[in-house]
Amino acid sequence: MSQQEMLDRFLEIHSKIRSRFPQIEQDVFGNKRIYLNSGAGTLTVDFAIHALASKAQSSNPQPGDIDPAEIATDLLHWRVRQFVTDFIHARKPEEISFHFSTTHALFNLAYSLRTILTKESNLVVTDLDHMANISPWEDIWGLEKGCQIRRAKVNGEGCLDVDHLLSLIDPKTGLVAVTMASNGFGTVVPLKEIIPLIRKKSHICLICVDGVHHALHGPIDVQEMDCDFLAFSGYKLFGPMLGVLWGKEHLLRKLVPYKVETNKNESPYKFEQGTLNNAILASLEGALEYLLWLSDELAMNVEQKIPLRRDKLRFVMNAIAEYEGKLSQLILEGFQRLDTNTFRCYGITHPKRILERDPTFSFDISGKNPKEIKKYLWEEYGFHIACGNHYSAAIYRHLGRDSICRASFAHYDTLQTCKSFVEALESFSN
Ligand SMILES: Cc1ncc(COP(=O)(O)O)c(C=O)c1O
Repeated sequence: MSQQEMLDRFLEIHSKIRSRFPQIEQDVFGNKRIYLNSGAGTLTVDFAIHALASKAQSSNPQPGDIDPAEIATDLLHWRVRQFVTDFIHARKPEEISFHFSTTHALFNLAYSLRTILTKESNLVVTDLDHMANISPWEDIWGLEKGCQIRRAKVNGEGCLDVDHLLSLIDPKTGLVAVTMASNGFGTVVPLKEIIPLIRKKSHICLICVDGVHHALHGPIDVQEMDCDFLAFSGYKLFGPMLGVLWGKEHLLRKLVPYKVETNKNESPYKFEQGTLNNAILASLEGALEYLLWLSDELAMNVEQKIPLRRDKLRFVMNAIAEYEGKLSQLILEGFQRLDTNTFRCYGITHPKRILERDPTFSFDISGKNPKEIKKYLWEEYGFHIACGNHYSAAIYRHLGRDSICRASFAHYDTLQTCKSFVEALESFSN
């Protein structure tokens, strides 16, 4: 299928896609709205909602191997681990553990590296990341263990300053924590190119990737990227609120997470504290099932249907990226019409550079504070955007701001929404 055919097909089935998201046109209180806050949490897809409700009724709390209900729970856990394995192209389901949130997963991971990192190690974090991939390293390894923590800068275009990052790495760099994409500026980090350069400068360096902001926007392939750890969150992938952590098996074997004595001392069990939430796991499975459904819908005939699950997931995430590129292009072209004396969008703004960003746009309108802008867009147009620091170091540390407006889009948003959004800003800022 050519790019154009894919785009046409996406548009052809777009109302069907939207119909799978019960809150697409109104919030839970019945208020009409246009949700432009997917960066803070996507809309939940019906597959995930139904799976959650059904499993909440039927699941057995503990997995086991005798009673059918406990066997079903055991199978569920391993099915979801295998599904995630396919989604991010991990090697084995044993590499996947489930956590309360990504923040929780990364604090767990940071603590468990106590057998690998030493007091002599230095660590590198970035000013582009979400604080969830900064504070665990700064708190546990910087403040508590006294390691040097180095901060890679962001350049004037809102991109990670790769030269600066590389200049911080030496043979004692034990870990680089870096995001796939900024939840502040939408900028995508070219990790496939950067990771080999990091490895050249430090042979012992581990690379921990935050996949949360990018997971809904494009394919993830941990083998191709060659990182060591990656985390993402279900609620930013059309599903439930949980964190997922992946790590290379041989590394996971060496790690010592905090765990109760009676918990199995092997991966993935040793990374998981307490009883897993079965309904939430079923819901994550539902969210991933939705992606398979979308892949089949995008295929125009039976011959085009893709047999292997990993290939289907890659295909559908590429299709989503393609469609979202169109959304970004419309928005960035629209922004070019706005008065540059009053309106400013952060990050990459040239419409030809859409491949370097996700459809997440932080912006300012001079003379208006972010809350005023958010209120106006809600009251006049029904747009639900975000304002705040978004826990983004790009906003909080790099820009030094407590609050900024952010509109973030996903594949269920329409081309018309993008146009209307720019028009609303135009009426406000010109
Ligand atoms: C890029 C990014 N990383 C990490 C997180 C933290 O995820 P969680 O809320 O699951 O801890 C978020 C949440 O906003 C995020 O946007």
